[in-house]
Amino acid sequence: MAGSQALVMAVLVMGIAFHSTLIDATIAKSMYFNWGAHHSSILGNGDDLRLVLDQTSGIQSKRAFLFGSIEMLIKLVPGNSAGTVTAYYLSSTGAKHDEIDFEFLGNSTGEPYTVHTNIYTQGQGNKEQQFKLWFDPTSGYHNYTIHWNPTQVVWYVDSMPIRVFRNYESEGIAYPNQQGMRVYSSLWNADNWATRGGLVKIDWTSAPFVASYRRFRARACKWNGPVSISLCAIPTPGNWWMSPVYKQLSNGQQAQLKWVRDNYMIYNYCTDFKRFKGQIPPECSKPQF
Ligand SMILES: *[C@@H]1O[C@H](CO)[C@@H](O)[C@H](O)[C@H]1NC(C)=O
Ligand SMILES: *[C@@H]1O[C@H](CO)[C@@H](O)[C@H](O)[C@H]1NC(C)=O
Repeated sequence: MAGSQALVMAVLVMGIAFHSTLIDATIAKSMYFNWGAHHSSILGNGDDLRLVLDQTSGIQSKRAFLFGSIEMLIKLVPGNSAGTVTAYYLSSTGAKHDEIDFEFLGNSTGEPYTVHTNIYTQGQGNKEQQFKLWFDPTSGYHNYTIHWNPTQVVWYVDSMPIRVFRNYESEGIAYPNQQGMRVYSSLWNADNWATRGGLVKIDWTSAPFVASYRRFRARACKWNGPVSISLCAIPTPGNWWMSPVYKQLSNGQQAQLKWVRDNYMIYNYCTDFKRFKGQIPPECSKPQF
């Protein structure tokens, strides 16, 4: 998310935190609209959501979480979606905020979406990686999951790991483990930057732009203030994300990640020497997964 966007959201955040783990029930029970509620809707049994782009429509979780798995099935805006961005991310509030992002940059009809990922640790972003997808994300629902524990953050698309951010805190590299984050999803007009650096504008004759969501699940630890920092990291059966199998990707998952990186990665901040004037961020010289 752009910093200003995050700030606007910080102001809009409300909601109450509870303790311990949970499996959240439905979108209707666990989320509420923060913008655009007038024509976006929660459908059926409360498990389906439509966001319609007017200026910005958005939804956010009532609760904040620290560690766990945040899952959503999303069908992206079909047709001419150039200039729209569907965002799905976790974010804390305040100055040194943490954030873990999935953003889907729309495109002209028939042209591929870009999946933009980023992570902010204690207010510091600039860690973008971008990917193309190996399927058409507008023709059906696909599973976009963020898995976050004290050792690593993993972004999954249909259970394929596409990116890992490992904890190198012991080497002075910030890691998001000091505060809870809420889940947000929004559909916004980003035609000032999203499509070819702002050259392609939203074609409002293609409106309405609709992104559909289904089956939000937070199998995660509820944030209940600083006490959660230790409670959410105790390796109990309830804190399933602390199990050793989630400390590192399996060999099979590493092979999948490598396949995605080799074939679908289109931007990696770690190789952007020009942007960082040769001072590539320190985590880039460590094993990435
Ligand atoms: C849109 O498609 C073009 C052509 O395939 C591609 O170069 C461009 O990166 C895409 N834009 C986005 C925002 O994904
Ligand atoms: C979505 O992907 C996650 C991560 O692989 C997985 O744990 C979860 O079961 C998947 N959910 C659905 C509905 O397929």
